Amino acid sequence: MSNYVLIKKKLLNFNKIIKANPDKSLSIRWAIMAAQAIGKSKGYNILNSEDVNCTLKLLKKLGVKLKKTKNYCEIEGLGLNGFNFKNNVELNCENSGTLARLICGTLVKSNKTVILKGDASLSKRDFSRVIKPLNLFGVKVLSNSNRMPIKIKGTNFLKPIKFDEVLGSAQVKSCIMLAALNTPGITKIKAAKSRDHSELMFKYLKIPIKINKGNKFDLIEIKGLTQYKSFNYKIPGDISSSAPFICLAALSKNSRILIKNVNVNSSRTGIIDILKKMNVKIIIKNKRNYNGEYVADIIVESCNSLKAIKCDEKYTSRAIDEFPLIFLICARANGISYFNNLSELRQKESDRLKITSNFLKMIGIKVEEKFDSLKIYGNPKLELNKKYIFKNYLKDHRIFMMACIAALTFGGKFLIHDKDSIKTSFPGFIKILKKIGAKIN
Ligand code: S3P
Repeated sequence: MSNYVLIKKKLLNFNKIIKANPDKSLSIRWAIMAAQAIGKSKGYNILNSEDVNCTLKLLKKLGVKLKKTKNYCEIEGLGLNGFNFKNNVELNCENSGTLARLICGTLVKSNKTVILKGDASLSKRDFSRVIKPLNLFGVKVLSNSNRMPIKIKGTNFLKPIKFDEVLGSAQVKSCIMLAALNTPGITKIKAAKSRDHSELMFKYLKIPIKINKGNKFDLIEIKGLTQYKSFNYKIPGDISSSAPFICLAALSKNSRILIKNVNVNSSRTGIIDILKKMNVKIIIKNKRNYNGEYVADIIVESCNSLKAIKCDEKYTSRAIDEFPLIFLICARANGISYFNNLSELRQKESDRLKITSNFLKMIGIKVEEKFDSLKIYGNPKLELNKKYIFKNYLKDHRIFMMACIAALTFGGKFLIHDKDSIKTSFPGFIKILKKIGAKIN
């Protein structure tokens, strides 16, 4: 099968209902937490993607028994510090930064060495952000320039830490929270705002956690070594996988989409607030509680009067994975859009700030990219008619999806390479686009 898509036609005039793809962050968190619970847990609506399947494979290597059926995944938890594996075991995290960072927090107490590896993209990413706090807990980590492969050797002399998480990274915060869970005493984290799924899951499991929410930082205290029971959990739909369809509807003429079961946790809904400010009509209805998270159905309609935005820094963590798509919307907006505080976009599966800027330049949009900021000169009349070939973006799934949405809304002919990248988070992406009416070869 070819590993590219060819898109030659814009999508117009659709009115469709789709179900959101299951949330990746929550699928990985559920599996890791279930593996450390006491007893058998069932996870429903678990995402079937490479990142999640890699998590399950890795947990098996740590001695965890699990089975997958059509309707659920069952994990037999081993309790805190209960993993059972051989010394120098190699764990491949493939493309998943979330798995790689979170699993480190569960390995702090073992007296055996674990070697963590990843694919080309993950091997370029920085691990000093988790190595620093792990060292403070007393854990030894060996690496070459803080890159993978990394060797982790836990200790029986763990000590709780006080840590300022200044990056606004949920992966780092969650790694520390998991390490705290496996460490005696009280760990205190002052965490710059980031998605709070781990906090909500800890609360749902009645793990002793105190959270004091501030404007820019949250103060989190965790009392370690409290065993918790197995739990059944239903995974909500992913707003990050819904985002391409939100943008598709906003940018397509005379169209409307209803996306069902989307997680609308406010630490993830930055894209909705940003697009509403840009004049997109978005309705959220039927909001309901799902194991401590909120899900809702989202309706989005075409917008032919997009306004440029001066995007406030407070949205950075709330829309962190959606910026490539938000930048596309700005390309069609009336006026100049400004973004800053975006340096974390350079730390993802690829340098998303650079790659999306280059993509916009390729289609004739003027952009000014600096270290952590971007200025986009919107063109409401943007209409393409040339042929574009897009590749070399480190097989980043979010960039591939962004390019498909551009091709389906701006015209022209697009050959987009590395279709397989979507297998990490959203294998059914193309199928759903076709269901909506897209002509894709
Ligand atoms: C994630 C957190 C974010 C996000 C990633 C998933 C998570 O990364 O970009 O796709 O599940 O915790 P950072 O925490 O590094 O910002």
